[in-house]
Amino acid sequence: MAQTDRDDDPAEIPYRGHGIPKLGFENYWYPILRAAEVKKKPKAVRLAGRDIVVYRDDGKLYALDDRCPHRGVKLSLGECSYKGTGTISCPYHGWTFDGSNGRLVAAIMDGPDAPITRKVTIRHYPIREFAGLIWLWPGEMEPSVLEEDIPPYIGRQDEFFTIPMYTDYKCNWRWLVDNWGNDHHAQYVHRSSPELIFQPVLPFALTIEPKPLPSGKGMSFKRSGGMTSAEFPGLGRFPNNEWWRFMKPTGRGNVSGFQESKAHKVYGIQNQSELWLPGLIIVGRLSGEYALIQWAVPIDENTTRCFNINNFRRLGRMREMYDRLHYAVWRGWAHDRIFSDQDKVLVEAVVPGPERLSKSDTGVIAWRKFAGANARRPEPAGKASLDVA
Ligand code: FES
Repeated sequence: MAQTDRDDDPAEIPYRGHGIPKLGFENYWYPILRAAEVKKKPKAVRLAGRDIVVYRDDGKLYALDDRCPHRGVKLSLGECSYKGTGTISCPYHGWTFDGSNGRLVAAIMDGPDAPITRKVTIRHYPIREFAGLIWLWPGEMEPSVLEEDIPPYIGRQDEFFTIPMYTDYKCNWRWLVDNWGNDHHAQYVHRSSPELIFQPVLPFALTIEPKPLPSGKGMSFKRSGGMTSAEFPGLGRFPNNEWWRFMKPTGRGNVSGFQESKAHKVYGIQNQSELWLPGLIIVGRLSGEYALIQWAVPIDENTTRCFNINNFRRLGRMREMYDRLHYAVWRGWAHDRIFSDQDKVLVEAVVPGPERLSKSDTGVIAWRKFAGANARRPEPAGKASLDVA
């Protein structure tokens, strides 16, 4: 479905010319629910502005447009009346659809073999369960191989285990991803986060060096330089502004010295993060023990599902128990709730319109250019035949 973003819409002004659609890039896998949320009862979800019903029959997952074409009732209010057939029946007059191809297979009120069953089909979506998450592909293109397309921390479940959670934000998805590209916000917005009592953040006035990844899947943001908060008299005392004094300098500046510290290896904060298409940030390193992936899932124009997908390296049973406990009592609360909620308040407070960007917005600008130019899209009509000729 082509998305037409009006030029006079204030929400489009920052994205004009970048080709970043308000309903997200469609031809990607998106996490949409935690796997445990899809049980016997069909579940209504929204993704990229589409209403979709997700259901399980005999353990297998199906996803269809959540609208019965007969009289428009939501299929998510129906049930799987014919167990083991992969079908779902509309609650109004019982039209029954095959989840594997969207075909109407029974129109009960019209009797057996009703001719209409050969004429009606609704859209079905590729759907997978993987790493404790339900994944949906909302685009028209042939779906990619999920495990190869998503970040390796999630994709390699033999090496990592994953603890996901999500919160719905009342904002457009682009504002959340821009927040991640604007890495500097962490020093200011999160200075009161309880997580930073034990985990250091970076000093002010960093230089961000955005660079496309060789894989083409995203771009890296390397942080360098920077000043401590002591150089900003009058801003008050930030609770963590003494941390890097204890870190061993490496000769590459206090920031790099800090990044190489044991604390960073344990907590996974890096001097480099990555922004990947279709709109996610990776904070971590494949060689490390932990990586956080935050994923902005476009639900509709004004709602974004922010997934915090925590990935822990499998280091034995005892360590896994510790990691799960640590997440349950500290990290999930301190980061995935309070830290992320500070972002939530601010991205929800964005008033659409013109922006006045500054030096510290290098990451935002680089991300917008990269995403618009590199997102996966169907070939323009006619291109394939021209190539053949
Ligand atoms: Fe669905 Fe009639 S509205 S069967």
